[in-house]
Amino acid sequence: MRLDKLLAKMQFGTRNEVKQLIRQGNVTVDGNRAVSAKQHVDPQTQIVCCSGKRLRYQKYVYYMLYKPKGCVTARKDNVHDTVMDYIKDSRKDLFPVGRLDLDTEGLLLITNDGDLSHRLLSPAKHVKKVYEARIDGAVTTEHINAFAAGVDIGDDTLTAPAELTVLEAGEISSVRVAITEGRYHQIKRMFLAMGRSVVALKRTAMGNVKLDDLLAPGEYRELTEQELNELKGQEDTYAKPDKSRDI
Ligand code: URA
Repeated sequence: MRLDKLLAKMQFGTRNEVKQLIRQGNVTVDGNRAVSAKQHVDPQTQIVCCSGKRLRYQKYVYYMLYKPKGCVTARKDNVHDTVMDYIKDSRKDLFPVGRLDLDTEGLLLITNDGDLSHRLLSPAKHVKKVYEARIDGAVTTEHINAFAAGVDIGDDTLTAPAELTVLEAGEISSVRVAITEGRYHQIKRMFLAMGRSVVALKRTAMGNVKLDDLLAPGEYRELTEQELNELKGQEDTYAKPDKSRDI
C-alpha cells in the first residue's frame, strides 16, 4: 500500500497532511527515514513509525454503537443525522451492519468487514437479533405461539420463527423478541399483523454480543477481541424448531 494512503487510513491526518509529515522527515520505515509519499510498504511485515509512534495496522475495525433514536442508519442523509456522524473515524469504507429504524435505538455494529456483515445478516446463518419492545396492549400466549410458528406480514413467505417473551404484562407490555432475519420494519409488522403496535423498540444483542450497559445513546466503543471472536463464530444461535413433532 502507498505510504501516504496507509498513514491517512490510520488517522495520522489527511492525505495532504501525511504527505507533509513524510516531507518533514517524521516518518520511518524499518528505521529508515521515508523518502516519498508514493513509497510502497507492507504494513503486516514492515515497521512504520510516524512522529516516533509505531503504527499498528488494522485492516478491519469493529465498533459497537448505541444508536440513539432520531438518526438514520445510512452513510448520508439530507435531513437527519446519520449513525456515521457518531463515529470519529475518517475511514471511508465503514458502514452499519443492517438497519435500525429512525425511532429504534440500541446496538448497531459499524465495520468495514463486508464478509462478517454478510454472515451476520444472512437469514441462512440464523444469527439472533434480540430486541426489547414496549407494546400497546396485552401480549398473550396466542402471540407467543404465532411468533414461534412464523407470522404472515404480507410478504411472499411467513417470517422465520421468532422467540417472544413477556417481561412485564400491562396496558403497555414489555417484551423481548429474538428474530433471525432483518426484514423491513419486521418487528413492528409482526406485532401489527397480530393487532398490536410497537411504541418503543431497542436492540439489545446480536448473536452473543450484548449492548454494553456503560454506553449512553450516541456513544460507541471498539468490540473486544472476545466479542469479535464470538461474532465470528456465530451461526445457528436460534434453536431450530423440532421437526419430529410435525410427523
Ligand atoms: N424491526 C423493526 O420493526 N424496526 C427495527 O428498527 C428493527 C427491527
